[in-house]
Amino acid sequence: MLQGNLDNDARTIMRRNDRGTYTVPTNGLYPYQWNWDSAFAALGFATFDIDRAWTELETLMSGQWPNGMVPHIIFHEVDESYFPGPEVWGTGSAPASSGITQPPVAATIAHSIFRRDPVEGRKRLEGLYPKLLAWHRWFRDCRCESGAAAVTHPWESGRDNAPDWDAALADVDTSQVQRFTRRDLEHVDPHMRPTKVDYERYLALVEFGRNCGWDEAEIMERGPFRVADPTTTFILLRANRDLARLAEELEYSADEVRQWIGDLERAVEDLWNPALGVYDSLNLRTREFAGSLSSASFLCWYAGLENSAMLSRLERVLSKVEFGVPSYDPDSPRFDRKRYWRGPSWAMMNAMIGTGLREFGHKAVADRVREDSRRMLLTGGFSEYFDPCDGSPAGGTSFTWTAAVWLAWASPVSGGFG
Ligand code: DGY
Repeated sequence: MLQGNLDNDARTIMRRNDRGTYTVPTNGLYPYQWNWDSAFAALGFATFDIDRAWTELETLMSGQWPNGMVPHIIFHEVDESYFPGPEVWGTGSAPASSGITQPPVAATIAHSIFRRDPVEGRKRLEGLYPKLLAWHRWFRDCRCESGAAAVTHPWESGRDNAPDWDAALADVDTSQVQRFTRRDLEHVDPHMRPTKVDYERYLALVEFGRNCGWDEAEIMERGPFRVADPTTTFILLRANRDLARLAEELEYSADEVRQWIGDLERAVEDLWNPALGVYDSLNLRTREFAGSLSSASFLCWYAGLENSAMLSRLERVLSKVEFGVPSYDPDSPRFDRKRYWRGPSWAMMNAMIGTGLREFGHKAVADRVREDSRRMLLTGGFSEYFDPCDGSPAGGTSFTWTAAVWLAWASPVSGGFG
């Protein structure tokens, strides 16, 4: 009974956040189309409206830049409740957008939607596939120069204030940052959000991009922040595998994509921090590891890579908390159970980690991650993220991707998304 209600509640949230052809992550805090949130929205829509699921991805790709980049925010209609808006980004793009990207989950989700209805899928993919391919090629050309995929801004990783970025951000000069007023703190408790110092650095990086006209060569050469990131690397590797599967379905050549897969499989080794025995973030400016065991480290199975050391790390981490995979190592002094990406558990990370574990036959751990996530959503509703120790809700409320992940993966009647 309760389950049925939750399925309905999840659909209600998705419909409420639906703006017709795209979905906002949540009203107020995030009033635009965000890249990976939108891909997860498509995954949720696919459980009850395939046509709407494809439309979500099509609208996302309509924001693609001529160089192939797909922005992390598309500003369809200006809304004063969010900062930094289009004028701060100053990208001059149409539609207006930010100047950075986000982890490319879209091809994996397109593959998942395709499998639900291959006939409709084939029609929709004819338009989408070349755009996904161009985006992945952009990652290859503009983010993978050292092998593993780099991020040029913490927002590009999706894990905005993860401790992974602390050392690299400390080198960012904020002396020229223009005065600004945050709007996020009007919606969420400050203890659950990034700090003032974090925001000054975020803005300094946006200003650097704007001042160089979002020129990728300049950003690669001189950008103040360039960190190889496990989130983007693992998600891109998985997305390339799914893009190659889609190419086969469409009877297109997958040769180029297969080359990228081989390259990334080798590049992942660069993220292995031998001192900690974990996949870590690597500052490409200093060649120093962040010293971070995060939930992104556990995306290796999702990327198609087995690793027994990571499995024992995951078992240790799970033994310390009650509600899914915390975004940061609970044994670290930097762990903060309420603060965004420094500790809380996120439903969509759990879904990707759980999916990868299941694919590798790690059934007990995969079941644990899914069961924990299910209890977390039953306890805390459809929040943005959750305290991994007691399951209490944190961040924004009525969140699209949490509802979508419930429908597609956590609900007992869901089919999973792998
Ligand atoms: C925010 O504004 O918090 C977003 O995560 C940036 O994309």
